[in-house]
Amino acid sequence: MTLRLIEGGRGSSDAPGLLIHGASQVATLAGGLRRGPAQADAAVLDAASAGGLAAAGAPVVACWEGRIVGVGPRDEVERGLEAAGFGLSRFVRIDADGGVVTPGLVDAHTHLLFAGTREGELVLRQQGAGYLEILAAGGGILATVAATRAATEEQLARHGRRWLDEMCSHGVTTVEAKSGYGLDLATELRLLEVAFELGREGPVDVVPTWLGAHAVPAEYRSRPDGTEAYVRHLVEEQLPGVAAQGRARSADAFCERGVFSAEQSRRVLEAASAFGMAVRLHADELAPSGGAELAAELGALSADHLHSPSDAGIQALADAARGESPVVATLLPATSWYLMEEQPAPARRFIEAGVPVALGTDFNPGTSPTPNLPLVVSLACIGMRLSPSEALAAVTINAAHAVGLGDEIGSLEPGKAADLVIWRAATIEQLPYWAGADLAEVVVKRGRVVRRRGA
Ligand code: NIG
Ligand code: FE
Repeated sequence: MTLRLIEGGRGSSDAPGLLIHGASQVATLAGGLRRGPAQADAAVLDAASAGGLAAAGAPVVACWEGRIVGVGPRDEVERGLEAAGFGLSRFVRIDADGGVVTPGLVDAHTHLLFAGTREGELVLRQQGAGYLEILAAGGGILATVAATRAATEEQLARHGRRWLDEMCSHGVTTVEAKSGYGLDLATELRLLEVAFELGREGPVDVVPTWLGAHAVPAEYRSRPDGTEAYVRHLVEEQLPGVAAQGRARSADAFCERGVFSAEQSRRVLEAASAFGMAVRLHADELAPSGGAELAAELGALSADHLHSPSDAGIQALADAARGESPVVATLLPATSWYLMEEQPAPARRFIEAGVPVALGTDFNPGTSPTPNLPLVVSLACIGMRLSPSEALAAVTINAAHAVGLGDEIGSLEPGKAADLVIWRAATIEQLPYWAGADLAEVVVKRGRVVRRRGA
């Protein structure tokens, strides 16, 4: 497929308008957060039913100065643009050449910034070692903490740029990025600052999250009351410093038996909430730990992992989904796969209970060293039995809500940011089908082409 900038536009990237035509399908994901049966509605506009790619009624997407200004049949959108004073000659046109157009993908859960690698743990797990066992022996997260504390801001930024670039090549235009490999104030601030700066640098937007409650660091482990003392440090010293820095939009905690209890997680997250931060939670990743219940009680933006929720936990999220502040269940199938779990998270139970489902990579050096969100979509379809359209909603509109940006990104609707992807696939069903393939043909961020295959 070739990218054609046709006659009529200024032919340069500084034209204020961009008009995408020639799409076989435009999956708009319009209409807000998806839950229950609506999770499967990708709000698709289809060229075939309009008479073909070149038909006057074939779907187009129009963007102006970084925002979407029109989505729908070409003749209607063009008439609307002219009537509203947007001269059609000021639009650069891109021919999607029969590909599918979707919103830019949102990776709602990553541990983007760290130093070092932990490939040895893959072999240890093959030999039967458990994840928490490796952590308790001073490895796992703690090994990454030691390497990260020793890394400079520049080294962390270089690492972050490398992986954001690869995520972008997979069609991802917004990434949530947790700290949590510093576990002391200075390093946590460094991680949050680098995450913020990388977002400012672009093209991918980065949404920083403070995860001071990721593990109890070595210097507290030797103390008999180590976990309690570290929780006090989090609330009394780390959090006030993080709040004063102002980079983290939300706070997270690893609520898990043997790490932080639900009660300890609650103390940290309630304190963060009092500073005006949104909350999210690593909940019930390895065993039922009261995480889903806590996320519902706190009105969290999202409860993540949920590999092993209790029935009461699922019920609590179902109740929240019917209320004012639904908690998005952000599921991470690459992690279950990488940890060699026999079953993934019970995604169908969440959907049947009306809980909105999002997906993320959980990109991190221990349990999910993959930057490939489309691969996660395939894993969700194969292992969790999500339909392709349910999985697409999970990495667009629902992921946008999970990171607190549901009004800004995640769907192709007038007023929203012009973040979109043209895929080398003719239907949305083909996206998970070509598992692991490199299908993102053109990536547009805020109305600018930031990635073009082969360019
Ligand atoms: O989401 N479970 C806690 N945190 C990460 C793993 C971090 C690590 O092992 O470095 C997760 O799986
Ligand atoms: Fe995680």
